[in-house]
Amino acid sequence: LPAAAPQVFWHAGAVSAGERQLQLGQQPATIWLTGLSGAGKSTLAYALERRLCAAGRLAYVLDGDNLRHHLNSDLGFSAAERRENIRRSAEVARLFNDAGLIVIGAFISPLQADRALARDIIGEQRFIETYVSTAPNVCEERDPKGLYRRARAGLIPEFTGVSAPYEVPEAPALALDTAQLSIDEACTRLLQHMAPRLR
Ligand code: PPS
Repeated sequence: LPAAAPQVFWHAGAVSAGERQLQLGQQPATIWLTGLSGAGKSTLAYALERRLCAAGRLAYVLDGDNLRHHLNSDLGFSAAERRENIRRSAEVARLFNDAGLIVIGAFISPLQADRALARDIIGEQRFIETYVSTAPNVCEERDPKGLYRRARAGLIPEFTGVSAPYEVPEAPALALDTAQLSIDEACTRLLQHMAPRLR
């Protein structure tokens, strides 16, 4: 990425990250859910947001499908556009983390290199890569939006898992298969993983 123009200046804030953490009683993090379309990322993200909210935590879902309605509405699904989608979304996650929120990101984010970019932007300590590992055939059978059917008919180009790649994460912090676990159980695993940050 190009550096900012020389005539723009960085202003340091007056409130530290530590003060915000004390105020909110939580350590910000980004739970980054990656997986195929139909794997259960959004369902899991919103269920976890609900559970965190019920526990008095401030959490916010960034969902790929939703961000593509506004912030990222100019982006399609070529490899370059997906990368830009992930870059912008990770920058938003970084800002929300900076503000003290727990972010739950739900993005197919099919390429290892793009997830590494998100990790770099958000920061190693705050990035919790979670692979929603539901098997491709299960996702395709579910086909909640009829996208696989349309992709198989050649109506959606570069559809992940059909005509575009998905690179399985090599060492995710967590892997959750929504064909094996209920959404509630999957949330519980995520909450257990995050418990040390929430005291
Ligand atoms: S990515 O790859 O991370 O940039 O994708 P993301 O921002 O998560 O958006 C995925 C949703 O867009 C819809 N959609 C497609 N997905 C994959 N490939 C193609 N070509 C495509 N076209 C549209 C689809 O509804 C995805 O939503 P989910 O929730 O994953 O099913």
